[in-house]
Amino acid sequence: MAMVSPSILSADFAHLGSDCRAVLDAGAQMLHYDVMDGHFVPNISFGVPVLKSLHKALPDAFYDVHLMIDDPLTYAEPFAKAGASLITFHLECGCDTAATLARIKALGCKTGLSVKPHTSVQALFPYLDQLDLALVMSVEPGFGGQKFMPMALDKIHALREEIDRRGLSCLVEVDGGVDAVTGPACVEAGADVLVAGSAVFGAADPAAAVAGLKAL
Ligand code: DX5
Ligand code: ZN
Repeated sequence: MAMVSPSILSADFAHLGSDCRAVLDAGAQMLHYDVMDGHFVPNISFGVPVLKSLHKALPDAFYDVHLMIDDPLTYAEPFAKAGASLITFHLECGCDTAATLARIKALGCKTGLSVKPHTSVQALFPYLDQLDLALVMSVEPGFGGQKFMPMALDKIHALREEIDRRGLSCLVEVDGGVDAVTGPACVEAGADVLVAGSAVFGAADPAAAVAGLKAL
């Protein structure tokens, strides 16, 4: 059984509240909230006010916030205040990683750290004991609807082995091109949480898509 975190980047923003409610009712454990600043990635998505509104409408949801931005240290607080449950940022963003993790924790959120496809997953290892979640990107961050990169599977496996060897409770999450075809190999490699955008919100029946991914 996998946990599913539907990426709302692929939702219909004109009906965001009802789209989110539908996937939560279908059993999704989290909502994946992709924040892009047009600098760290070549795209701009949404920011603090949209999270605040969603949190007001759906206060019990777990908000899995994925910051693809240059300066997560500055923006951790506004996202935490807007309702983030977990804040993941990128090792490649150039911030002070330890200070940012400490800040996220001090704000009362769970901590996550991610690597892009061409960054070694071993770079996450020094931080694993401070993490609630480690995120392996299986596409270049910036856009939904890209093709899954199979190179992510070895990284998931290496992460899983290291977490288990050290007896840590950090979750392994995979994000990008995950669907009913690519998801099983991710779970097999050791992923706990599957992020899925187009495979859920682009499906004719998003609730069935969530149920299918959860059953992997
Ligand atoms: C990509 C985002 C992903 C994206 C996933 O930069 O981090 O969360 O929305 O979308 P799909 O599942 O369509 O690849
Ligand atoms: Zn994401």
